Amino acid sequence: MRTQVAIVGAGPAGLLLGALLHRAGIDNVVLEQRSADYVLGRIRAGVLEQVAVDLLREAGVAARLDTQGLPHAGFEMAFGERRLRIDLRALTGKQVVVYGQTEVTRDLMEHRRQSGRPTVYEAENVHPHGFDGEQPHLSYRHGGAEQHLQADFVIGCDGFHGVCRTAVPAGALTTFEKIYPFGWLGLLADTPPVNEELIYGHTERGFTLASMRSHERSRYYLQCSLDDRVEQWSDDAFWAELRRRLPADAAARLVTGPSIEKSIAPLRSFVAEPMRFGRLFLAGDAAHIVPPTGAKGLNLAASDVGLLAQALAEFYGGSLAGIDHYSQRALARVWKAERFSWWFTSLMHQFPDNGGFGLRMQQAEFDYLCGSVAAQTALAENYVGLPLG
Ligand code: APR
Ligand code: PHB
Repeated sequence: MRTQVAIVGAGPAGLLLGALLHRAGIDNVVLEQRSADYVLGRIRAGVLEQVAVDLLREAGVAARLDTQGLPHAGFEMAFGERRLRIDLRALTGKQVVVYGQTEVTRDLMEHRRQSGRPTVYEAENVHPHGFDGEQPHLSYRHGGAEQHLQADFVIGCDGFHGVCRTAVPAGALTTFEKIYPFGWLGLLADTPPVNEELIYGHTERGFTLASMRSHERSRYYLQCSLDDRVEQWSDDAFWAELRRRLPADAAARLVTGPSIEKSIAPLRSFVAEPMRFGRLFLAGDAAHIVPPTGAKGLNLAASDVGLLAQALAEFYGGSLAGIDHYSQRALARVWKAERFSWWFTSLMHQFPDNGGFGLRMQQAEFDYLCGSVAAQTALAENYVGLPLG
């Protein structure tokens, strides 16, 4: 098989890139190691920046997002007994849209099916070859047979554990990593959310986040120990702990119910530089991970593939400038989102080694935010998303 652009991974990065390329008339094939159902079973964050919404619209995949997404003009922070509303619209003129990543993926899958561009699910042993020359290809196994996909470019949208980044020769890549000493225990339930807007809470017992997918579906998180196992957390134990961590008025409104999904995610910051090696490009989680505080993961993946789709369209239009600048342009935005996610995580969580000084620093930071429009604006403009650059 031969195509123009071979994409590894059918997560949001791979599928959105496929949709943008399709829009530009560029032929592409997606290879995914899992089944479509497995990909749709993963629950991730649910806050979209304007840049991501615009790209989904440009790709022609925003019909459901535009009717079912919930525009949020602000969010709340709770710090012990104190509260602060970050008025995104007043501070930046922008807002975010709450719409689950699972739904984004579902919309992208349906759009791809209609476009007729091929997706090979359950492709095993995918490996990129020859990307230091002009004729890269992917080898893989599918339907019990060895297969080859030739392409002009290979794009690694295969997430943090993918093969594309690891296929790059040692020494050509510099990685940066920070692991946080806690995880997030998440629970999804068909119960009305406790609040109209998200609440990010710093409490003595640890961080909590009250989020949602719709007016009928809530998503909550609790900071937990890295040693915790999800089986140790009954739904009752989760709801009891959430009630202790929510501000009193929100706790009084909490409606509980059986969980639809419950899982623990570790928190990590990670960047691989550069994001291009010859004819192999990395995008999304394959190149960088942010901790979920601020929900930048999907948004960064979207901005990477927005830049890449533009760069590839320029290539087929006769200019190398876009692909030559992709890594530098993407990384400039990535590092700013890394900084913001690290900062927001550092402010809102209990750190085992923080000590009294660390806690006073968090309190002073929150106090400063409360009293400074400049500080709130800095938070708000990062939260709604920095320009594509
Ligand atoms: N071969 C083929 N596919 C692979 C391989 C492989 N060797 N390794 C991983 N994949 C697939 C995974 O099964 C997954 O479906 O690549 C896809 C990567 O998808 P994501 O992990 O969702 O990454 P990405 O598309 O970059 O999404 C970025 O979505 O997943 C969240 O936290 C992430 O919010 C971030 C955003
Ligand atoms: C979510 O709804 O899952 C969510 C929202 C905001 C975040 C992280 C996750 O910062």
